[in-house]
Amino acid sequence: FADNGYNLWLNYKLVEDVSLLANYRTQLQSLYIPYQNATAKIAASELENALKILLNERVAETKEIKENSLVLLKTEDFTKYGLASKSFEKTDAFAIEKKMIQNKPVILISSPSEIGLLYGSFKLLQILGTNGDISQINIQESPKIARRILNHWDNLDRTVERGYAGFSLWDWQRLPKYIDQRYIDYARANASIGINGTVLTNVNSNALILTKEWLQKVKALADTFRPYGIRVYLTARFSAPIEIGKLKTADPLDEEVKTWWKDKANEIYNIIPDFGGFLVKANSEGQPGPQNYGRNHADGANMLAKALAPHGGIVMWRAFVYDNEVPEDRAKQAYNEFKPLDGHFEDNVIIQVKNGAIDFQPREPFHPLFGALSKTNTMAEFQITQEYLGMATNLAYLAPLFKECLDADTYAKGKNSTVARVIDGSLFNNKISAIAGVSNIGNDINWCGHPLAQSNWFAFGKLAWNYSLTSEQIAREWTKLTLHTNNSATNEVVDILMQSREAVVNYMTPLGLHHLMGWDHHYGPGPWIANKPRADWTSVYYHKADKNGIGFNRTRTGSDAVDQYQPQLANEFNSTKTCPEKYLLWFHHLSWDYRLKNGETLWNGLVKKYYQGVEEVWQMQTAWNKLNGNIDPEIHLAVKQLFSIQYDDAVMWRDACVLYFKQFSGKPIPAGLEKPK
Ligand code: GCU
Repeated sequence: FADNGYNLWLNYKLVEDVSLLANYRTQLQSLYIPYQNATAKIAASELENALKILLNERVAETKEIKENSLVLLKTEDFTKYGLASKSFEKTDAFAIEKKMIQNKPVILISSPSEIGLLYGSFKLLQILGTNGDISQINIQESPKIARRILNHWDNLDRTVERGYAGFSLWDWQRLPKYIDQRYIDYARANASIGINGTVLTNVNSNALILTKEWLQKVKALADTFRPYGIRVYLTARFSAPIEIGKLKTADPLDEEVKTWWKDKANEIYNIIPDFGGFLVKANSEGQPGPQNYGRNHADGANMLAKALAPHGGIVMWRAFVYDNEVPEDRAKQAYNEFKPLDGHFEDNVIIQVKNGAIDFQPREPFHPLFGALSKTNTMAEFQITQEYLGMATNLAYLAPLFKECLDADTYAKGKNSTVARVIDGSLFNNKISAIAGVSNIGNDINWCGHPLAQSNWFAFGKLAWNYSLTSEQIAREWTKLTLHTNNSATNEVVDILMQSREAVVNYMTPLGLHHLMGWDHHYGPGPWIANKPRADWTSVYYHKADKNGIGFNRTRTGSDAVDQYQPQLANEFNSTKTCPEKYLLWFHHLSWDYRLKNGETLWNGLVKKYYQGVEEVWQMQTAWNKLNGNIDPEIHLAVKQLFSIQYDDAVMWRDACVLYFKQFSGKPIPAGLEKPK
């Protein structure tokens, strides 16, 4: 009986290893949870339902603690049970450990909060699902980043901008009265990986969502998600006071406008008392914003922040701004606009910065704004949906991409000033910390379109909770929980996942190339795209290929984007000797005869990368096909078919780019490569 991927990584299955099963059964004989609220009940039923499947045995709730119980306790109740007090730094942290309570050996999940108990319960189930040892279990976990948020680019008509997995989950037409089971499963999945916030609406926003009728629908979702620890946020259209408030202006310094937003915030919090706040895309790609009135980003963000502050809400103000009219390298514009405003934002504003300075490309160096705002809260925005990485058709496991950014050293306060430490608030002692992922979720049966793309939702949550995990650890955990592979098949799947993103980089945009995709749809190749209404929406703007060479000169002899980084990095990127080759053409315009580190010419090396990308897809495809019989047949077949499309796509990308650039280089394709597999 196949679930077609609907159950995600919550796809529990009987533990196969007989001795392990016996061991689990001995240690988990009953359940003791002395709480009645909705979250505790969810934890209880998740544990009961899951253990029934994992152990093929009913582990029932009991009114008192028995030997070998699984016990869930909040720290405030420790003394009641004769336990030494325990403190956690964060309210949603938890511990799982062997303990003696009332002289009985138990497994204890503890936390300061019910939500932490729910997180701990999911963690224990994940340990069982991956056949971990619980005999001496003793773990303590605490989220590194406080707000772990999905951004849905969902429109009110249920289309999803850059969504490739069907329509929006939010069935606005039937809300608020009809609560689709899907909402509950969505909340469960998020809670199981620690995601605790969701922005329901597209950054290119519609002010209607802020009207009375729509807020009732939002309330219904917020009420559904609350017991799972998930807060709801909305995108706020800057011109809403005009569009739905009938004011003449949306000028953030106008008194009437300020009052309108204050009243709006009061109205929202009356309906949704724990509303998270607003996400705002302003003065970017045609969206309205404070600059329409001669004001700056701080004026706009602070006006909204003041309206939300009395209620504890925050403003996530996006730094994704660039303007074709500004005669400056697009990669530099966000820094140029925001750096001078450092220190001018209210405490409840956080600047939401994309991982790279252009736009969610298969590879970008980290955004120079990370580390540059020492007096302003800064959060990261990743794209889980694969706008530029083959949508839900191509496989690209994104944990390595997320980690490349999170682990990057900004040097803002000397060595080890990683992006992760900027956004977790520890580097600059920020009051709020957050991370956002643009969701890849829709109403497809398997949620994410590509069955393996679920791993990206999973990886985002896991890294948001603990960015120190390795991509491989996460891939392994996801694979075992979701696909129930045996050890050797797990290794195979993990290998496939681990090479997938680099393969995409190689067949799309190797050596630091970027933004070569087709016009608007962003799926296939389009390095020839030119003559569009905006230069910064063409490809030729980015690769600058001509007879003499290729690449965007962002060194000190070019746009000098390098100097937006700390001196150590600026120098490193500025010189071809030290610039990592993966970023070479991001920072340098080089002749076709330039020698790469391995001695090859740039032309030959570039072409070989494109061929390597195709080869890697072929390898993944072959390895996957061999897994037939080890994986649920429906999922196996779906992925097999998708790999076959991906192979064709990779060939098309390779051939299109190589042939296009060849007219400039005037050089032959290196020997031995002519024939694709
Ligand atoms: C990309 C994407 C748009 C989106 C924008 C944003 O440019 O193509 O659809 O609106 O990013 O992040 O605001």
